[in-house]
Parts: sequence; structure tokens; C-alpha cells
Amino acid sequence: MNTLNVELGERSYPILIGTGLLHDADLLKKHIPGKQVLIVSNETVAPLHAKALLDALDDRQVHLISLPDGEKFKNLDTLNLIFTRLLELGFDRSCTLVALGGGVVGDVCGYAAASYQRGVKFVQVPTTLLAQVDSSVGGKTGINHPMGKNMIGAFYQPQAVLIDIETLDTLPERELKAGVGEVIKYGLGLDLEFLNWLENNVDAILGRDRDALAHAIEQSCAIKARVVANDERESGQRALLNLGHTYGHAIETHTGYSSWLHGEAVGAGLVMASDLALAEGMIDKVTADRCRDLVLRCGLPVAPPEDMNSERFLALMARDKKTLDNNLRLVLMTGAGQSVCTSNFSSKNLTQLIDNY
Ligand code: NAD
Ligand code: GLY
Repeated sequence: MNTLNVELGERSYPILIGTGLLHDADLLKKHIPGKQVLIVSNETVAPLHAKALLDALDDRQVHLISLPDGEKFKNLDTLNLIFTRLLELGFDRSCTLVALGGGVVGDVCGYAAASYQRGVKFVQVPTTLLAQVDSSVGGKTGINHPMGKNMIGAFYQPQAVLIDIETLDTLPERELKAGVGEVIKYGLGLDLEFLNWLENNVDAILGRDRDALAHAIEQSCAIKARVVANDERESGQRALLNLGHTYGHAIETHTGYSSWLHGEAVGAGLVMASDLALAEGMIDKVTADRCRDLVLRCGLPVAPPEDMNSERFLALMARDKKTLDNNLRLVLMTGAGQSVCTSNFSSKNLTQLIDNY
């Protein structure tokens, strides 16, 4: 097992990465505090992985809530299901929520923890590659609004992140590929050495090679932990973790949070952002091709939905949380493994590129 730390003073917490963590009752007891525990999962993940947690915590008052599955349920109604269950159980401020699932469960559960009785503890037990490399770390929690992705939420850090790589054995192929979309953003935007490693190992990751998965998860978490420690509330460097996401979130909102997976929208967004950086002269063709090739090798889309034109993109992207004083800001690569968050690009290039896909 490997342990990393997110260094945030008194809100610091460990990220434990290993195989079989869910079957280590002592470890689970140690890292999940409180006598009242609500495991928040969904109808797909709970039957696969909740029993191990329930058994390990059988010395507590432990309960399970199984939410409906899907991005389209990352909303107020689902959040309220958690509050209602907590109130029915009579859980007080000393309770702990455990998010067992992918990024949707993690984001909704984290936001429930941030708001129930003005804040209770929570622990992340991510079970998708995407959640293990990204969403479980860093304390961004929240829900979608029909008009915009992740528009309602809070920065709220977990007590611990417990990553059991074995849970990926049950993850469908399409979800695994979507998770790699978030892995490659770290390489493309922040870390050339990791980008080089990914280009040599992406097939092993997709083939579920345990060592390759462990390395990808550890490196991704290490990069994210470092960035979050420096800029928890995204006043600077943390925005770089959003490479590809301004386009990607627009695609998810446009498609009603149903047909495109988050990681697929990010894949297309990475290519769109690198095409713009190329048009702006910020990167060369070789670097733009590295981005496109990697996204293609992951089996992710490299273009937006056909029914989205520049007008639609601009309307949705205007609501992006990086927008400042009505100025759209995008994360754009400035080289392989380097990026910047900027409003300094030509809107003509932006619209022409979108309309030419
Ligand atoms: P998800 O949570 O919808 O999970 C994907 C699918 O896999 C679901 O059907 C789920 O039930 C299923 N699943 C999960 N674990 C499984 C397992 N071990 N075996 C079988 N099936 C399993 O999607 P996701 O890709 O994990 O997360 C996407 C969400 O994460 C988006 O809402 C995105 O906005 C959010 N996100 C948040 C952050 C953050 O910093 N908070 C970062 C990136 C993404
Ligand atoms: N996923 C982007 C962030 O956590 O900042």
C-alpha cells in the first residue's frame, strides 16, 4: 500500500492506495471515524462493494443509502434523499458519511457532508478510475443544475481517501476509458515526464494491468495533492486541472448529462483546447498531435457532438466558473506538459475551430 498526503494544515488528510483495502477491516475502522456512519453509494456499486464496508464497520451504527445511478441524478432531489435518510436515522453532528462509488456519488455525498447540520465528516472510497485519479481528492463537492454543470457546491475536504484498485475489476470498459481522459490531462497540462510514461503505458492501463493502473493512480493523486495543497480554492494553479473541461462541461450540459460520460466530454475538450492552442501559436503541431493521438488511443471522442455550434458552446461556456468579469478563460497548453489559464486568445479562432469540426 502507498500513502500520500494532501497537506492542508489542520484539514490535511491521507490518500491510501492499494489492493484489497476494502477487505482490511482494521484499516477501514482506523480511517472511518464516528459511531454513526452512513455509507452513500448507488444501485450499481452497492451490490458489488458495500458488504465489505458494512461488515468491517459492524461495531458501529452503520447504514447504507443506495442512490439512483447516473450523472443525471447528480441533482438537488438526490441530495435531499441523503438529508432525509440522515434525519430519519436521527444522525447528529458526530456522524460520518462514506462515499462509495464514482465521481457522482463522491461529489453528491461530499456536498451532503458539507451541508448536513453545517458540516459533518466524510471519507471517500472511490470505485471508478476517474474518481480514484481525480474527483475523490481535493474537496470539490457539488451537484449540477439543468443550466450548468457543477454550478452548486462547496469546497469541503474529506477525512481520508481510501483507494482500492481491486474495485476496478468490476468497472465497465467504457468507464475505464473515460477515466483515462482525466489521467492524460495531468500529463498534457502539468507533467511532461508523466505524459511520456503515459504514451508508453496507455495500452497497459486499458488492459487493466495492475502495476500500470497503480502507477497512473499514484502519479495522478500526487500531482493533484500538490496542486490542491498550493491552491485549495482555485485562485491560480488549480485551474490548470480544468484542461479540456470548459468545452467538456458545455458538452455535458448540452447533452442533458445523459449520453456523454464526463471523461468522454473531457477527451473531446482536450483535443479542442489543443487545437485552439495550435491555432494561437502556443504549441506546435507535434504537441497538438500528441494530444489527439493519446485521446484517440483511449477510445475517447476527438470532436464535439454534431449538433453543437459555436453559438451554443459560447452560451454554455460563459457560465464556466473560471469566467471572470464576463471574460471567458480557458486552460490552454503552452507546450507538452505545460499549460496556462488565459483569456488571451482570438475569439475568431475559437468560433471558427468549433464550427469546423
Ligand atoms: P460515475 O460516478 O457516474 O460512475 C460511472 C459509472 O460506473 C456509474 O454507472 C457507476 O455506478 C459505475 N461504477 C462505479 N464504480 C463501479 C465499479 N467499481 N464497478 C462497476 N461499476 C461501477 O462517473 P465518474 O466517471 O466516476 O465521475 C464523473 C463525475 O465526477 C462527474 O459528475 C464529474 O463532474 C465529477 N468530477 C468531479 C471532480 C472533483 O474534483 N470533485 C473531478 C472530476 C470529475
Ligand atoms: N477536477 C478539477 C479540480 O479538482 O480542481
